[in-house]
Amino acid sequence: MTVLEAIQKSAEFLGKKNVEAPRLQAELLLAHLLKMPRMKLYLNFDRALTVAETDALRECIKRRGQREPLQHINGSTSFCGFEMTVNRHALIPRPETEQLAELGWQFLATINHQPSICLDFCTGSGCIAIAIAAKCPNAKIVAADISREALALAQENAAQNKLAERIEFLQGDGFAALAAGAQFDLIVSNPPYIPSAEIETLEPEVRDFDPRLALDGGADGLNFYRLVAAQAKPFLKPDGKLMLEFGDGQADAIKKIFESEKWIVEAVREDYSQRARILVARL
Ligand SMILES: C[S@@+](CC[C@H](N)C(=O)[O-])C[C@H]1O[C@@H](n2cnc3c(N)ncnc32)[C@H](O)[C@@H]1O
Repeated sequence: MTVLEAIQKSAEFLGKKNVEAPRLQAELLLAHLLKMPRMKLYLNFDRALTVAETDALRECIKRRGQREPLQHINGSTSFCGFEMTVNRHALIPRPETEQLAELGWQFLATINHQPSICLDFCTGSGCIAIAIAAKCPNAKIVAADISREALALAQENAAQNKLAERIEFLQGDGFAALAAGAQFDLIVSNPPYIPSAEIETLEPEVRDFDPRLALDGGADGLNFYRLVAAQAKPFLKPDGKLMLEFGDGQADAIKKIFESEKWIVEAVREDYSQRARILVARL
């Protein structure tokens, strides 16, 4: 079977399994397997696959047909240009979260006293902490999560990106993970925000493969925003900022939660599709 035939056959199979963008997915899986950029496949359409390559591709396509995410099959994804290993213990880093990380490192860059210190609350794979650490060479980052398995992955990702010495990993439930008296210039978080009952309606790639702990924001999806609004103040320095990602359609409710806890809501930022997705607040 040639590269082109393999792509066509795989795309047809994935299409029947209702996988979105089946041809692209087939190409990405084959390119990863052959260790070449996707575009290079186009120069190799006539190349014959070996038996071992065909068997490996068949296995990958079977898994993708069962709606396992591409990132889990390939074992990694890119976040702000940094390579992140992914597994079932942490949310796959999403492109929209890159904007939160960028706002975070832009703010830390304006701080005069150095080193600045940042908390990534609910760190998961560690993607936000790692991107900010990489972009702010003077910053120290604390990355907290309730899941030991997610923290093990985050530590692996920090080491892989040669940033382990500037990121401290803390396990615990909410702010109980932190030492009393700890204070940060920036608290950044992408917490779980899906209403519990909506989880069953999500695509299988999310519903069956992202950990429920990373998705479930309680009955209305807003539990973590109430928690942060009520408990984060003592952990923020007087000139510090809080930046939180939230779900599409949650902006008004979240703004109200923070204002009723006497936070100053500085901005609600939109993503590239003009949907409000990030809250910026201060004391
Ligand atoms: C939506 S994921 C975000 C992961 C990562 N920050 C990202 O943007 O890809 C939320 C994370 O919150 C963690 N989490 C859930 N409940 C928690 C709690 N009570 N205290 C601390 N972390 C919690 C989960 O383990 C998960 O890693």
